[in-house]
Amino acid sequence: PDPVAPNLVAAVSEARQWQRLMEMGAIGGFSDADGNEGVNRACLTDLDRQARRLLISWAEAIGLTASTDILGNLFLRHEGTDPTLPPVVTGSHMDSQPQGGRFDGIWGVIAAFEAVQALREAGIATRRPVEVVAWTNEEGGRYAPGCMGSMAYAGYAPPTTWDAVTDKDGIRFGDALAEHLALEADIARRPLGTVEGTAPFAYVEAHIEQGPRLEAEGFDIGVVTGIQGSRWFLVEINGKSDHAGTTPLGLRRDAVQDMLRAITALNALMHDPSDVLRFTVAHIEVEPNTSNSVAAVARFTIDFRHPDNAVLQARGNAIEGVIQAALKTCTAKVTERFHAIPTDFAPLVPDAVEGAARAQGLRALRLPSGAFHDAQFIHPLCPTGMIFVPCRAGVSHHPAEYAEPGALAAGARVLAQVLADLANR
Ligand code: GLV
Ligand code: MN
Ligand code: MN
Ligand code: MN
Repeated sequence: PDPVAPNLVAAVSEARQWQRLMEMGAIGGFSDADGNEGVNRACLTDLDRQARRLLISWAEAIGLTASTDILGNLFLRHEGTDPTLPPVVTGSHMDSQPQGGRFDGIWGVIAAFEAVQALREAGIATRRPVEVVAWTNEEGGRYAPGCMGSMAYAGYAPPTTWDAVTDKDGIRFGDALAEHLALEADIARRPLGTVEGTAPFAYVEAHIEQGPRLEAEGFDIGVVTGIQGSRWFLVEINGKSDHAGTTPLGLRRDAVQDMLRAITALNALMHDPSDVLRFTVAHIEVEPNTSNSVAAVARFTIDFRHPDNAVLQARGNAIEGVIQAALKTCTAKVTERFHAIPTDFAPLVPDAVEGAARAQGLRALRLPSGAFHDAQFIHPLCPTGMIFVPCRAGVSHHPAEYAEPGALAAGARVLAQVLADLANR
C-alpha cells in the first residue's frame, strides 16, 4: 500500500464534514411520521439552487473556482501545478428522491470538497487539477431518467435529448433548465465536457453503500468493482373510459385490468430463482383516476436491472412483446428511456482506493453496486471508481437513511489519499 501522509489524513475533519451534511440536509429537509429526518430536494428547483449556492460559498472561501455547463453540472476547481493536465474529477449529485435521505449523493459532493480542502490545508500540491463536481439530476425523481448531467457530459446523449420531458406539474425539463441557467448566469460558464476538451485523468465517486453488506460484514470501505446494468421503460396502456355502474364487463376496454395482466406477465418474464435480477414497477398513473369511471389510460414505469448484459438485453428486449401478448382489450405503447449497460471499472481507481484503505488500517471489501451512479456514464471516458461507506441497515431512498459521522470521515480520508495519489501521477 501507498504510504499515508499523516498531515493529509489529519486535515480531514469529521466534525466539519458532518456539520456541512446537516446544513445541506436542512435544505429540503422534513421529518416523517416516525421522526426520521429526510430530504426532498428535486433537481433544478429553488432548493437545489440553494444547496448549490451554499456549496459555492464554501468553495470560494477556500479559493476554488466555480463554473457550470449548459446542463447545470457544477464544478469547483482546485488548480494543479500544471493546469494543462487533465484533471482528476470527484463528486456525486445534490438532488434527492422525493422521499430521500440526507446522504445519498450529497455526501459524495461534500466528501470530495472535504478531501480537496484537506489537500489544501495539508499543503499538498497536486500536479493535476482536481475538480469537485455536482452532476445535475442524478435521481430522475422529478425528470426521468436519472444521470442526465453525466450522460450529457460524457457525450452519451445530446444535451437537448430530454427537453420535452415534463415533471408532474407539466413543466418541461428544457424550460426548467433554461430558467435555472438564467438564475445562475453570474456563475462562469464552461463548455459541456472537460475544460481541456479531453477526458478527465480519472473519476472517483464516494457514496453510501445503499445496501447492507459493509455494515453486516464489518467493513469500513467498499471498493466498488462495477455497477449492474439498468433499463427503464414507460408503458402506456390505452382503453376507454365508461360508466362503472352501467357498462357490462365484457364491453369494457379497461386500462387498469390490462395493466394488471401486463404486470403479471412481466413478473413471470422476470422470475429469477437466484434473486439476482431486480424488477420494479413503482410509478403508476391512471386516467381519469376517479373511482366510478373505467380507466381509459394506465401508465406504469419499469425499472429492470441485472449485472449480466446478456440477461439485461434478452429479458429487456422481451418486455414489449410480453406486454402486447398479455393485453385483452387495450393497446400499449412501450418506450425505453434509460439504458445503462453493466460496468466493470478498470483497475486504476479501485486499486488506488483499496491501497489507501489498507494504508490507513481500514477493512476494505470489493463489491459491485446495485444502484446506478453517474460513475457509470463517466467510466467510458477515463479510469473510474467508487468508494462506498456503510449505511445503517442498507436503507436508502428513504428518510431513515443514515450513516455514522465516523464512517463518513473514514471515507473522506480514503478519498483524500486517493486524490493525492491520482492527481500526482
Ligand atoms: C439511483 O438512485 C438508482 O436508482 O440506482
Ligand atoms: Mn446517489
Ligand atoms: Mn439515489
Ligand atoms: Mn443514485
